[in-house]
Amino acid sequence: MGEYILEMRDIVKRFPGVLAVDHGQLNLRAGEVHCLVGENGAGKSTLMKILSGAQPMDEGTLLLEGVPRSPQSPYHAQQLGISMIYQEFNLSPNLNVAENIFLGREPRRGPTPFIDWRKLYADARAILGRIGVEMDVRRPVSGLSVAEQQMVEIAKALSVNAKIIVMDEPSATLTNHELRALFALITSLKKQGIGLIYISHRLEEIAEVGDRVTVMRDGRYVGTENVRDANRERLIHMMVGRRLEEEFPKERFRKGRERMRLEGLTRRGVFENISFSLHEGEIVGLTGLVGAGRTEVARAIFGADPVDGGVVHLNGETLICKSPEAAIRHGIGLLTEDRKNQGLVLDMSVRENATLANLDALTMGPFVRRRRERAVAGEFVESLNIKTPGIEQAVRNLSGGNQQKVVLAKWLFTDCKVLLFDEPTRGIDVGAKVEIYRLMNNLVREGVAVLMISSELPEVLGMCDRILVMHEGRLAGELTRDEATQERIMALATGGVTATV
Ligand SMILES: Nc1ncnc2c1ncn2[C@@H]1O[C@H](COP(=O)(O)OP(=O)(O)OP(=O)(O)O)[C@@H](O)[C@H]1O
Ligand SMILES: [Mg+2]
Repeated sequence: MGEYILEMRDIVKRFPGVLAVDHGQLNLRAGEVHCLVGENGAGKSTLMKILSGAQPMDEGTLLLEGVPRSPQSPYHAQQLGISMIYQEFNLSPNLNVAENIFLGREPRRGPTPFIDWRKLYADARAILGRIGVEMDVRRPVSGLSVAEQQMVEIAKALSVNAKIIVMDEPSATLTNHELRALFALITSLKKQGIGLIYISHRLEEIAEVGDRVTVMRDGRYVGTENVRDANRERLIHMMVGRRLEEEFPKERFRKGRERMRLEGLTRRGVFENISFSLHEGEIVGLTGLVGAGRTEVARAIFGADPVDGGVVHLNGETLICKSPEAAIRHGIGLLTEDRKNQGLVLDMSVRENATLANLDALTMGPFVRRRRERAVAGEFVESLNIKTPGIEQAVRNLSGGNQQKVVLAKWLFTDCKVLLFDEPTRGIDVGAKVEIYRLMNNLVREGVAVLMISSELPEVLGMCDRILVMHEGRLAGELTRDEATQERIMALATGGVTATV
């Protein structure tokens, strides 16, 4: 057997109007973490769907331990020792942990059709033990956190003797603590000789967890490097094909009048006594650990959740929005964190989705509107570098990151005077992030007040004028751009006090 457990050579995959993978290459050693990076739409997920049998390839060779194979279905791939962990998990919410791990392969009592429950639970515990996870195997999956579900997925992969495990953006929905747990787990999988393919847009993670990294651009193979030798700048250059002058193109504007003020906003058991204001000319960051209540505050302002107390002042008027429709009427927009479920109509086109939130601005007779709509959508495709064969493409067919860009476009194109962005750059590649920050600058220049919820501290420090930090449902503190450091934010976010300098 050669050096590699997997070799993918000259893989080609076409979709109507798109060459998604154009002579893609990848090889994997046993016991290594091989990172796969590239801009949104570069072909990473497609290449992995070919490996995991979810998509057939048009051309190319796939060798598993030197033997040519072509996985025909996810089930077939699994039999060949390949498991892919998707971001949308494939677990059955009503079954418990053990049932999910051994679904369809439950141990039976002798020759009877009856499940040997004792053995099922023991086996499940043993598998979880192999990766150092302690979990009640009788708990229904519906009650688990995203991270716990991910662990069940990994246990399931191990239970079918996977030799290759693919993780497509596993970290996007994890808290920092959970990410540490995932990395520990990955280390233990490596020791067992499993080869991992790890897709992520966060380059810091690659430095931390990866052994080698392969870069794709426009469906093509750019190169493979040892992570040790590849610094951030070089990787970015390989990914976007040029140097990025600055990752955070912050522009400072004069702080204008107050747009919105929260006074003692409270939702019992979720957040309490939240007061802050948003002004024209500034981007305010709202950060803290995942679960601190940031998203919930934004949802309450937007009328998506009720509140128990407190008020919101908008341009001097007091109001509590009872519904998102009311919020939008008052000029408040919310880009939700959970884009797939709340932001997009997947079967509609890029054009229709991008202009969905502001149809009024386009309504001037049917013909004018169409033309304007096309122009607006076209501009966004260009400025955000949305990879699509055209504005009529159904959003369902775009890559994950490009779908998110469409949702962003939708909110960037509104008359909203207050915009709440919840994790706006999650899953977005480094190059496109810069464009999103530029568009935010433009909004602020035009007088929009922006609240940016983000867990990415570099982005918060790089783009915000003021930073609010939440801890367990309360505001723990506020820092100006000049005061803020990563350490000070973390101290507030974890309930400590900021050290004075
Ligand atoms: N089912 C499909 N039909 C048509 N085009 C598709 C389909 N699936 C993917 N594509 C296109 O193939 C290209 C590669 O998409 P892919 O999802 O592999 O990108 P990616 O590198 O995973 O990007 P991201 O970082 O945004 O997840 C994109 O242009 C995408 O629009
Ligand atoms: Mg993808």
